[in-house]
Amino acid sequence: MATFAEQPLADLLSVSRASKAGAGERLRLSIVGMGLVGRRHAAAINQLSSVEICAVVDADDAITAQVANAGIESYNDLCAMINATRPDGIILSTPTNLHMSQALACVESGIPVLIEKPIAHDLAAAQSIVSKSDTLGVPVMVGHHRRFNPIIQKAKDVLTQGLIGKIRVVDAKCWFAKPNDYFETAPWRKINGAGPVSINLVHDIDLLRFLCGEIIEVKAMMAPSARGHDIEDVAVAIFRFENGALGTVSVSDNAVSPWSWEVTSGEYPIYPFTGQSAYQIGGSRGALSVPDLKIWQHEGEPDWWSSIDSATLSVAMADPLVNQIKHFAAVIQGEAKPLVSGYEGLCTLAVIDAMREAAKTGRAICPADLIAVDKTAAEENMRFTAKARAHVKADSAWTNQAP
Ligand SMILES: NC(=O)c1ccc[n+]([C@@H]2O[C@H](COP(=O)([O-])OP(=O)(O)OC[C@H]3O[C@@H](n4cnc5c(N)ncnc54)[C@H](O)[C@@H]3O)[C@@H](O)[C@H]2O)c1
Repeated sequence: MATFAEQPLADLLSVSRASKAGAGERLRLSIVGMGLVGRRHAAAINQLSSVEICAVVDADDAITAQVANAGIESYNDLCAMINATRPDGIILSTPTNLHMSQALACVESGIPVLIEKPIAHDLAAAQSIVSKSDTLGVPVMVGHHRRFNPIIQKAKDVLTQGLIGKIRVVDAKCWFAKPNDYFETAPWRKINGAGPVSINLVHDIDLLRFLCGEIIEVKAMMAPSARGHDIEDVAVAIFRFENGALGTVSVSDNAVSPWSWEVTSGEYPIYPFTGQSAYQIGGSRGALSVPDLKIWQHEGEPDWWSSIDSATLSVAMADPLVNQIKHFAAVIQGEAKPLVSGYEGLCTLAVIDAMREAAKTGRAICPADLIAVDKTAAEENMRFTAKARAHVKADSAWTNQAP
C-alpha cells in the first residue's frame, strides 16, 4: 500500500479546494512541515468539507515546488506565510526541536495552533509555549490524536462508569522494530530527544494519564541505542497514579513484537494488524485490555478460584486524525476548549522528563515538581486547564475526568 509519504503531494493536495463546495466558508488551515505526519493531516483535511489547506510551509524546496504545482500557496518560512496568508489555524508538523520557536510565532500572531506531539523538545520550551498561549489567550492544541479515537473514548467510558471497579494496576507495552531507513531518511530521528520515549511512548503516556489519572511518581531505566544512535532504544518505567494505582510501561523500537498501539489498534493501515492488545488495566471488579476492548470479570464476586469470562465491546471506528481536525476547527471558532491543551501536552512531557531524570539518577521523580519550575506560569496554565475541563465535562462525548 502507498503510504502518505509515498503518495505524490499533487494528488494529496489537489483534493483540498477543487472538490469542495462552499468556498469562502471553509476554515483556512496551513500545514507547516509536509513530511510523514504533515501528509496525514493533509489527508484528514481532505475528508472534511468545512476546512481547506490554504498554504504549506516546508524547508525542502522539492516539497514546496510540488505544493506550488498543486495550486496551493507554498513557503519556505513560517513567518513569511503568516504575513502573506493569515490562516485561521496552523498545524505544526515539523521536527520537534522547531516546535517552540514556531509555536511562539503562531501564538504571537494570534493564530490558534495544533502542535504535533511532543509539544516541545524540553519542558522549559513547552512551558514557554503554554505561558504565551495563556497570556495572549490564543489556543494551543497538542497532537495526541489517540484521545480522539473512539476506542479510547469507549475505554474511558468503561473506566469512568466504574465497570472494572477501582483501577489498581496497569501495564502498557510499546514494542516494535523500526527499520534502519526510518532513521536514514530523517537523520533528526537519531539524535538526542528523538528516541522512542519522546516519539512513541509519549502517546501511550498521554493515554495512560487520560484513562487512569495523573501520574505522581516515576522510576525508570533506559538503555542506549544498539544501533549506535544518540538515543535510547529501550526504556522501562514504574508509575504511581494519583488514585493509588501502580503501573509499568515499556518501550523499544528495536524489538520485534505484536504488542504496541500501532499494530493493535487498526488506527493506521500502514501498520499490519496483529489482533493483540497493548494495555492491560486491572480493577477491583474486572480487567480491561486496550485497544481490543475486552472486559474480563468473574461471574459473582471477584475470586481467583472461580472462572473468569470475557466480553469484547464494540465500537464504530473513525479516523482520530479527522476527529482531531474537526475539534481543532471547533477550537478555532471558539466553540470548544482544546481536549489536549498545551498544558496537557506539558504534563505528559513532564512524565517523559521524569522518566529521563529517574533513569539518570536512580531516584523516584514526581512529574509535578518539574512543572513547578515557573510557578506563576503553571498557575496561569492551571486556570486555563480548569476552563478547558469545564467545557469538556459539559460534553459527555469528550469527558476529561480521571475515573
Ligand atoms: N501524531 C503522530 O502519530 C506522530 C507520528 C510521527 C511523528 N510525529 C511528530 O511530528 C513531527 C514531525 O515528524 P515527521 O516524522 O513527520 O517528520 P518528517 O521529517 O517526516 O517531516 C518534517 C518536515 O518538516 C520540514 N521542515 C524541516 N524544517 C522546517 C522548517 N524550519 N520549516 C518548515 N518545515 C520544515 C521537513 O522538510 C519535513 O518535510 C515530530 O514532532 C514528531 O514527533 C507525530
